[in-house]
Amino acid sequence: MSNDNQTTKKQPFIEIKGISKHFGDFVAVNKVDLTIFKGELFSILGASGSGKTTLLRVMAGLETPTEGSIIIDGIDMTHIPPYERPVNIMFQNYALFPHMTVFDNVAYGLKKEKMPKGEIKSKVAQMLELVKLSEYNHRKPDQLSGGQSQRVALARALIKQPKVLLLDEPMAALDKKLKQNTAFELVNIQEELGVTFIIVTHDQEEAMTLSDRIAVMEEGKFLQIGPPSEIYENPRSKFIADFVGNINMFEATILSKQASKIVVNCPTLGGQHEIDFNGSIADDIESITLAIRPEKIMINNQPPSSENTYIKGIVEDFGYFGNLSIYRVKTSDGNIIQVSKQNRYRSERIISWDDEVYLSWEPSNLLLLTE
Ligand SMILES: Nc1ncnc2c1ncn2[C@@H]1O[C@H](COP(=O)(O)OP(=O)(O)OP(=O)(O)O)[C@@H](O)[C@H]1O
Ligand SMILES: [Mg+2]
Repeated sequence: MSNDNQTTKKQPFIEIKGISKHFGDFVAVNKVDLTIFKGELFSILGASGSGKTTLLRVMAGLETPTEGSIIIDGIDMTHIPPYERPVNIMFQNYALFPHMTVFDNVAYGLKKEKMPKGEIKSKVAQMLELVKLSEYNHRKPDQLSGGQSQRVALARALIKQPKVLLLDEPMAALDKKLKQNTAFELVNIQEELGVTFIIVTHDQEEAMTLSDRIAVMEEGKFLQIGPPSEIYENPRSKFIADFVGNINMFEATILSKQASKIVVNCPTLGGQHEIDFNGSIADDIESITLAIRPEKIMINNQPPSSENTYIKGIVEDFGYFGNLSIYRVKTSDGNIIQVSKQNRYRSERIISWDDEVYLSWEPSNLLLLTE
């Protein structure tokens, strides 16, 4: 969803250098390095307990790092208290003040600063317009839907115009459809204000749709940092490939290695494959993982007419989702391959249980994973 206004986005804005956070013997964040650019929408994606909130709290100044430093806009902020940082945080369980109206919730930070009333009024009105809640300014939080509450919390976090907004699971309370709409709104608001957003989430779809770049976090470390498409199409490890989306992975033996090509044998995927590969593999490694995403496999009742390799299988299980169907196909060697297929035609006969099917793919869709 990012626009590639890369020239304005390429100034380092937040530099995290070797940050660790220990709680007693436990290492919650382990030597993390990260550069975030001005105006970027950056996501930290990781499973529960991977250290996302802890890292965000370190950025906000709510936790002191055990080691490392954090620089924002050229200034070392490592020992600067939270209220002196150009940063605001929207907490994982953002709570609106229940007895206050929407207007007062959003105005809270400005009132505390003793800003003149007229100015507060116009700023809050502007912010409520941005989050499309102008009509709701007199409501109390218990008269709002989940998505509306979320937008009030966002307005409240943005009203003091922080240079950086840290959002911890901002959409966790929303249902799927609302999440998608809110994601688009969030991106629009972020682009309009030019604020740098750092979003923490365990939801990979959310991270993919929102972000300019994603860092995948596990056990306090970053495993891979890159744009969503790179993380998805070129995952660095089996863990990432599996964590971000679905993927089929099979063992393959290495037959030969050249500078930029590897030939492998993978019985489940029909035998020998030649694959472009620029990484390095130790000489003593003989087996490797061959992977392919479900949507990159074609499934048919007849053999494909193209030159591509194909394999035969039997549909063991299938789920119909309307727009697409997901198949679990059993291969002749007893493995299961997951395939997803767009349902393009209304009148098409749907491939179903126990059908004999042919699976094929473009060779470039095969991925080698060494880790
Ligand atoms: N104050 C603390 N004292 C001791 N351990 C802590 C403390 N805060 C966090 N932890 C531990 O650090 C690890 C990382 O916690 P953190 O809250 O950063 O995870 P998270 O990635 O945000 O998870 P979630 O997705 O569930 O919110 C967890 O194992 C947690 O129990
Ligand atoms: Mg958390």
